[in-house]
This record gives sequence, C-alpha cells and structure tokens, in this order.
Amino acid sequence: MIRLRKVVFPVAGLGTRFLPATKVVPKEMLPVIDRPLIQYAVDEAVDAGADTLVFVTNRYKHSIADYFDSAYELEETLERAGKHELLAAVQGLLPPHVRCVYVTQEQALGLGHAVLCTKPVVGDEPFGVILPDDLIVNDGPGALRQMAECAPDAETGVLAVEEVPRADTGKYGIVDVEKGSERIRHIVEKPKPEDAPSNLGVVGRYVLPARIFDLLEHTTPGAGGEIQLTDAIAALLRDTPVLAHRFRGRRFDCGSKAGMVRATLHFALDDPDLAGIVREFVADHDVV
Ligand code: UTP
Repeated sequence: MIRLRKVVFPVAGLGTRFLPATKVVPKEMLPVIDRPLIQYAVDEAVDAGADTLVFVTNRYKHSIADYFDSAYELEETLERAGKHELLAAVQGLLPPHVRCVYVTQEQALGLGHAVLCTKPVVGDEPFGVILPDDLIVNDGPGALRQMAECAPDAETGVLAVEEVPRADTGKYGIVDVEKGSERIRHIVEKPKPEDAPSNLGVVGRYVLPARIFDLLEHTTPGAGGEIQLTDAIAALLRDTPVLAHRFRGRRFDCGSKAGMVRATLHFALDDPDLAGIVREFVADHDVV
C-alpha cells in the first residue's frame, strides 16, 4: 500500500460530446442530480487519502475553481434563513485539510500533456489521476483507494481496468496482462477490435510513479495527434511493473449521453424521494 497525497484531475478537454451545453459549462460541472461530476471525483480522491487536489484547467473553466471557493453572500443568506442543511451542503464540499491547486493547460494537446503540466506541483512522489467523467459508484472503499492499497511501492503503477465489449476496444486503452498475475505486459491506445490484445479496457483512474513525467516529456503525439498518457505508460512498462486492477464498483461513462442518463437514473432510483417518481414516470411512458 502507498500513501497517495496528490491527485490530478485533468479537466482541460473540450467536452465536445456535450455541446452546446459545454460551450459555457465545463463537462465536469454537469450535475448527476444535484452534485457536479467533479464533486464525485473529489470525494473519491479524499477517500483515497489525498490532501492536495491538482486541477488541470483552461481559460474557460473558472467555474470549477469558483465551485470549490467559499460563497460568502450565499452562505450568509442561507444562515439568516435558517437553512442549515443547505448551508452544510455548500460548506462541506471539501474537508478543511484539503487544498486545491489549479494548473493551466494552454492548449488541449492531449491527456498525457495535461498530466505533464502538473509536474511542478506533484514533484517527486507517486500520485493519482482521476478522469471525472468516469464516475465509479461503490459502497466500500473507492476505486482509487483500492488501487493505492494494491500498489506495493512508490515505483509501481496501477491502472483501473474493466472488461469492455470487443466492439468498443477502439474507445479505450487496452491492456494485455500476464497470466496468473495482474502485471501488464503491453498497452495499446484505442485498437480496432481485431488488433486488440484483450478486452480489458483502462478506465479513468491511474496511480503513477513520478518517473512518468520524464517519459511524458519525451512522448510525441500519438493517436488523434494528441500526447497520450497511454504511450508514456507503454514506455514505463519496459522497465517498471504496472498492475491492472479490476476495481470493485460500477462505472458510468458520463462523458457520453447514455452514461450520464444511466448515472442519473442510478442515483434517482437510490434516493427514496425520487425512486417512486422515476418508476411511475417510466411505467406511464410504457418504456420498460
Ligand atoms: P476526452 O477524450 O474525454 O475528451 O478526455 P473531452 O474533451 O473531455 O471530451 P469529448 O470527447 O470532446 O466529448 C479525457 C480526459 O482528459 C482530459 C479531459 O478533460 C478528460 O477528463 N483532457 C483531454 C485534458 O485535460 N486535456 C487535453 O488536452 C485532453
């Protein structure tokens, strides 16, 4: 098990699948019921032990920093109105010992480049990466905590994986794992189904050693013309163990409309105030 103090949230992508909403609202601020995606991601990082949250943003994403900032007028109004539950909800977004650091990625050159932008903040220690649009729901320890628990030392990488339909391998980094162990032999970004070494897809959680930064500095643009984190991980694998962790939990791909609808229904059906309304609505519309 390793101690994960710092977790990186690369949120500087363009979020084109949710246009036109994402013209002004960052994808990570889209809500599942009443909490934005970024809140679920931050809760998972804090559960994993993080005390420093590093957001990679761009000039259109100020609302993420605003969201975590205190809102004096709002808080005072809620206080005066005696709305204590709501006040606790807006004040309790982060525990007091956790701090946020914002790093700008001037151009969306890819996920690998976004992670590289955090090198001056992360420094020389292992760190976590969470892509907030992969929302992972879990009753026990969160996915990132599970991964920190299975990392034997600060040099070993851990990637969250799950089985994906063969037809979808072109949407994921796909890994080939040694038989009888979790050690990854090989990773490829978005292979065609016929070229994929397996159907184990990497989802948006990584535990990475600091050495990944040196490798990212030498990573040239790959799939889609972007600097890919997967390519730097492929270089890491040559001399460093990287493990595939089949996390416990259910993942919703909230970067897609279908995943966002599923996540919303999941949380609504889990909420005693909403579950009956959803079931009634679906029954009335005869869609089951
Ligand atoms: P995606 O591939 O999901 O791209 O990025 P996107 O821009 O967010 O969304 P679509 O596909 O256009 O709808 C994966 C993750 O990497 C981050 C994104 O913010 C997302 O969390 N990212 C991607 C960056 O931070 N910078 C980049 O240059 C690219």
